[in-house]
Order: sequence, then C-alpha cells, then structure tokens
Amino acid sequence: MKRVPSGIIPVISVDRKSADALYQQIYDAYRGAIVGRTLRPGQRVPSTRMLADELGISRIPILNAYSQLLAEGYFESRVGSGTVVSRSLPDQTPAPHVRSARPEKSKPEARRISKRTTSVDKNVPWRRGWGPFGVSQVAFEHFPFPVWNRLITRQSRHSYAKSMDYGDPLGLRKLRTAIANYVRTARGVRCEDEQIMIVSGSQQALEITTRVLLDPGDSVWMEDPGYRFAYRVFGFHGCKVVPVPVDHEGLNVAAGIRSARQARAALVTPSHQYPLGVTMSASRRLQLLAWAEQAGSWIIEDDYDSEYRYESMPIASLQGLDHHARVIYIGTFSKVMFPSLRLGYIVLPVDLVEAFHAVRLSMDIGPSHFFQAVLADFIGEGHFSRHIRRMRVVYGERRSALIESIRKEFGSEAEVTGGQAGMHLSMALTGIRDREIALRAADENLWLVPLSSSYLTKPQRPGFILGFGSTSAEQMPAAVRKMSALIR
Ligand SMILES: Cc1ncc(COP(=O)(O)O)c(C=O)c1O
Repeated sequence: MKRVPSGIIPVISVDRKSADALYQQIYDAYRGAIVGRTLRPGQRVPSTRMLADELGISRIPILNAYSQLLAEGYFESRVGSGTVVSRSLPDQTPAPHVRSARPEKSKPEARRISKRTTSVDKNVPWRRGWGPFGVSQVAFEHFPFPVWNRLITRQSRHSYAKSMDYGDPLGLRKLRTAIANYVRTARGVRCEDEQIMIVSGSQQALEITTRVLLDPGDSVWMEDPGYRFAYRVFGFHGCKVVPVPVDHEGLNVAAGIRSARQARAALVTPSHQYPLGVTMSASRRLQLLAWAEQAGSWIIEDDYDSEYRYESMPIASLQGLDHHARVIYIGTFSKVMFPSLRLGYIVLPVDLVEAFHAVRLSMDIGPSHFFQAVLADFIGEGHFSRHIRRMRVVYGERRSALIESIRKEFGSEAEVTGGQAGMHLSMALTGIRDREIALRAADENLWLVPLSSSYLTKPQRPGFILGFGSTSAEQMPAAVRKMSALIR
C-alpha cells in the first residue's frame, strides 16, 4: 500500500475539563485555523493516529471531528493521498487578526520600528528581470552543469556527522585554502589561508566589515558615482558617507582628503570601478595607501568582477601593494560562478581575524557547509580556472558585439566606458531622462540601470549601465536597436 506522508501538526490544544466535547474542540480548532488561513487550501493534515499520539487522547474524538470537517467541506480526502484542507472552501472570510495585520494608513506612527531602519536609503533598487542588459547576469547556458551536478551528487554521498555540525565561522578549511591559492596567484593578493573568511557574497562582506571597523557617525569615502548597495550598508550603521568624485584615474584621492581627511575608511573598486569601469591608476593607488597609513584608516577593496579582462592581463589587486595591512579585500563568486550560490570571501589583515571571527559569531556563523565543500572541489579539480578561461572568450564576444552595436546605433552620441573588463559597461548619453526610460524599458523586457541612479551628488550624468553577460553576440544588435528605439 502507498504510504502517505504525514502533515505538519497544527497548534491544537484540548482541555479535558472543558464543557465542550473533545471532538468539538478539535473541530473548532481546525475550522478556526482554516478560516483564519493559518492552514491553507491543499495543505495536508496529520493522520488521526498521529494527532491522537501528539494530543495524548484516543482516536475516536479525532475521527469524529475529521468526519464532520469532511462532511462540511473543510477537508477533502483522496485515496492514496491522505486528507488535505479543501481547495474549495465553504467560508473564506478572513479572521479578524488577519485583517488587522496591515496597519491603518492614517496612523503609521503607532507601529515603531528602529530609527536606523527608518533612516536607511529609500531609493528602490532598479527593476530587475531576466533579459538583455541585466547587470550581474551570467551566461548560464555555458555553465558546466554536468560537472557541477556530479560534484553535488558526490558531496551528498559523503555527508558525515561532523559536516552537519556548526562549521568554523571563518569557513570550510578546504575552500579557504583553495581561495588563498587562487587570489595569491591570479589577483596578486598577499595572504595565507588563515586570513580568508568565507561569506555569503560581497554584500555580507561589507556588512561584517562595517560592523567590525566602523562606529555610528564615522565618515566613509565612497566613489561617486558608486555602488548604491554599499551606500545602504554604511547608512544603516549610521556612518556618514562622503562622496568622492571618480575621474579617468579612479577615485580622486586629493578630493577625498579635502572633504574628510580623517575618514575612517574608503570603499573602492580599483580594478573595474563600479559603474564607470575605469581602472585606478598606479599613482592613485599609492596615494590612497599613503592616506590610509597616515590617517590610520581602512581601505575596503571590492574586487567583484576583475577576473574578466579583455584588452590586457588582469590588473593586480590594491591589497598586493599594501605594506601596512590597511586593505580589507573582498571577492565574490557571484560573477565567476553564479549569484545564487551566495559565496564570497574577505581577505583579512592578520590582526583583525579575531575581531571578524567574534562579530561573525553574533551573525549567521557561516554559509552552508555543503556548497562550500562542492565549490572547494570545483576549484581544486581545475574546473573553476577552466570555466573562467572559457567564459572570458564568451563574454569577450558579447562585449564586442555590444560595443559595435552601440557605435552603429548611437555613433558619437554615446560615451562608452568600462568595457575593458567585467560583465557590464556604462553608456553615457546627454539630454535623456534615463530613469523614465529605464522604467519603460523594463515593460519591454530590457533591464537598463539608469547611470544617474549611481550618483550620490549632482550633477548626475544620464545614461545606462548595461550588462552583457546574459545576451548572446547574435542577439545583441536587435537588443541595442530596441533600446535605441525606446530612447529616441
Ligand atoms: C560593485 C559590486 N560589488 C559586488 C557585487 C556582488 O555582490 P554579491 O557578491 O553580494 O552578489 C556586485 C554585483 O553586481 C557589484 O556590482
């Protein structure tokens, strides 16, 4: 006979001393939960035997209550699939507490939330969807799924008791070693395995770094234009964001010093500035490091996509030039693998490891052991470097197709920057309302991020940040024509 999986036992309590019969109490509890939508249509209910065990009573009152609920249409029963909450309920009136779950618009102050939440950047992130120009979208069709799936299967066969315990807050040793080897070799980062902390993406890396290094009221330099998601993190922690302009050499260090010499930290994307794409010049790198050393401040290096460089060899990290351990280096697997993996890493100065460890324990302790182990195998067995090499060719073709199509459609009207690396570029256009166009484009399945939204101060240059990761070279000309039609 087919075994039917048991449902989750709902919160039902029975009172033997009550004047109401037990079957009545069970019936009322189920009916209330169904009408109040605690139990949803189609949801399985536990077997009478299981519920009797749980409540410590005989099955008889439960059988009676169930047959009443079946008769009235609150439950339905199918041979082989057990008893479920009916998909066509007789009474759908929401319970009073459901109606009051959303506050009346007229008195929002009645429901207090934290001050720091109310003061956080309310700028909604740009509408995101799957399709041409989506920033941070990778070419999934080129991902080596057979290899990845094989490693997942192998890992799932090798679960052992220790792998189910809380892991090391710094991350799985095998993955930390693999990352240290990788960043030392490919990114010129100076580190040992002990300095690596595994995190769930750069966003969490920024969150932890801010908690460890900064206090409310501390000033932080941010590139202007820059990465808005980072702005949110600093804002949330009550830090004062100091916008520092970016020019063709990257962050203008002298301007930063003029605005806030004593800032506690600077967040930079030196390999491929987000969103303009410039590479920070050697002299700016040295100026920035000298400032950090003199001011006793920290540099947070967000190296999010520099694995892909098309016109020259990858640029070594800023961290590799640092002789005073002032740089916190952040890397992510969101672009080189895929974003939902939610794995990234921080390379920590040796003397900060303990503090990061302590803060991590007050958070989520660490990402799931399972995918850390799968990724460690993927890197260790050479699939990672092979994948990057292959993807560099794929993205290189997509990027060339995008630049060529922009030239054809816009000629000298469009100023393209940042196409020498990564998976997106910026296209500045004068005299357009980029936010309005981006909203309209989303309705046409084109996912443009308005360039102006990345500026922290005025003037905000209009244009678009265009991802080329998920659009094939063949589809690119048509996508750019469609964008051009929307703009004009
Ligand atoms: C500047 C910058 N940093 C980091 C990331 C990646 O964030 P995460 O690792 O949290 O996915 C992105 C993604 O688009 C980015 O643009």
